[in-house]
Amino acid sequence: MVQAKLHPTSLTGNLQSISPSESEQVIQFKHSDKYRTSEWYSGHGQIAASGDNRSFEVSATYTLKAEVKLVEGVFEIANPTLAQAYCRRGRCVAIVDQTVAQLYGEALSNYFAHHNIALEVLTCRAWESDKTPDTVHRLLKFLGKDGCDVSRNEPVLVVGGGVLSDVAGLACALHHRRTPYIMVGTTVVAAIDAGPSPRTCTNGTQFKNSLGVYHPPALTLVDRNFFRTLETGHIRNGMAEIIKMATTDDPVLFELMEQHGARLLQTHFATLDSDEGSDKDSNEALAQIADEVIYRALFSYMKHEGTNMFETYQDRPHAYGHTWSPRFEPAAKLMHGHAVAIGMAFGASLAVEMGWLKSADRDRIIALCQALELSVYDPILEDVDLMLEGQKNMRRKRGDGGLWAPLPTGIGSCDYAQEVPPELLQAAIISHQQCCSTLPNQGRGKEMYLHDLGLE
Ligand SMILES: NC(=O)c1ccc[n+]([C@@H]2O[C@H](COP(=O)([O-])OP(=O)(O)OC[C@H]3O[C@@H](n4cnc5c(N)ncnc54)[C@H](O)[C@@H]3O)[C@@H](O)[C@H]2O)c1
Repeated sequence: MVQAKLHPTSLTGNLQSISPSESEQVIQFKHSDKYRTSEWYSGHGQIAASGDNRSFEVSATYTLKAEVKLVEGVFEIANPTLAQAYCRRGRCVAIVDQTVAQLYGEALSNYFAHHNIALEVLTCRAWESDKTPDTVHRLLKFLGKDGCDVSRNEPVLVVGGGVLSDVAGLACALHHRRTPYIMVGTTVVAAIDAGPSPRTCTNGTQFKNSLGVYHPPALTLVDRNFFRTLETGHIRNGMAEIIKMATTDDPVLFELMEQHGARLLQTHFATLDSDEGSDKDSNEALAQIADEVIYRALFSYMKHEGTNMFETYQDRPHAYGHTWSPRFEPAAKLMHGHAVAIGMAFGASLAVEMGWLKSADRDRIIALCQALELSVYDPILEDVDLMLEGQKNMRRKRGDGGLWAPLPTGIGSCDYAQEVPPELLQAAIISHQQCCSTLPNQGRGKEMYLHDLGLE
């Protein structure tokens, strides 16, 4: 095989150097920066001709830049971050969650008015029931020719929770086939998980989150001051996603959550006064801990999710607690964070059953969930058929190569179970039930069902 490797920068789109008379040829192809239009996306590739003038193979690498930043007071006039991102264009096209617009819309308008940047806003109700293709179409109309006519290189500003980040991220991915967006996550889930995530989506007719594409924000801004106005139930839900990263990837984060999680919950990440009353120094210390917890959870999540952009590898620790729960969460009408916590606690019992985890570490995981009033048990787990069906669905979703269930092997580490045979699953269910039967309230948490929060 003749490899005609050309210097990457020597080509700017000219394929004539493939000679039909030669046998196989591989040409590295790099486009000139002179023609580059996006500051976030780039790519290169190669084309390999078989040499018989009948076939060739193209392989291409797509590179994207996705930055994540903790910021303080993102809509405060003195904060330059958004002004710097939009001043060059003189306008900002924004999609904002309806509740967030009611609470922070004025601050957002004042910010851009002060910086002399025109603001065009679509306020969008973003309940779970609004996570539909119709909503995506409405957003596309706003971004499109008859709306704001957003260029493919103009970053859209998205401000809201996980529902909005999923649907607005998908609309941006579809608009001009890929339009960048800047995400300001206003819930804990959006700040540390859904917001920076590349997995944009809408619910399909049969499954939650079943239609979507991989398109992360070009920039994610995390400002925990938004958590002040969140319902405590939503703070608790977000904490389950922090525990999943702590358990599988970051033992320091786990210890921070053990020591400070309850106070972070109570004070909405140091944005409300503590019941115990506290002085300025201890408030500042808690604020620093809150930032460290958020940073660690984000870093750990994006280290795995951000570098595995198309989910082509299933060594994904952030799927801990998410193997069986997608099946039992809707069946038992559980809040998402509680379903994840039950999934994590059950996964820990399974890991003990398999000899992967010491029971003392399983007990620590359960104790941490309980300290934050997250559930670790629901009788729905005893429905073995439903659990087996959940495994089957998940195996399909994860690519048919196995179940690849992340399970803890200690505090801060995990491995992936390729398969969980029915007898093992059943034994783990029994042992988890026994373990939880002695816990206060049989392992049930606070506001664990959708109807507890009137969300049914
Ligand atoms: N793409 C991903 O990787 C990924 C990861 C995790 C979750 N998700 C998705 O995220 C969604 C859940 O996200 P969520 O928990 O952020 O819920 P959410 O977006 O429904 O927000 C919860 C509620 O809080 C309101 N709200 C938002 N910010 C607020 C604020 N600062 N103050 C007061 N109220 C505020 C919202 O209007 C909403 O009523 C689910 O649909 C889930 O599938 C996606």
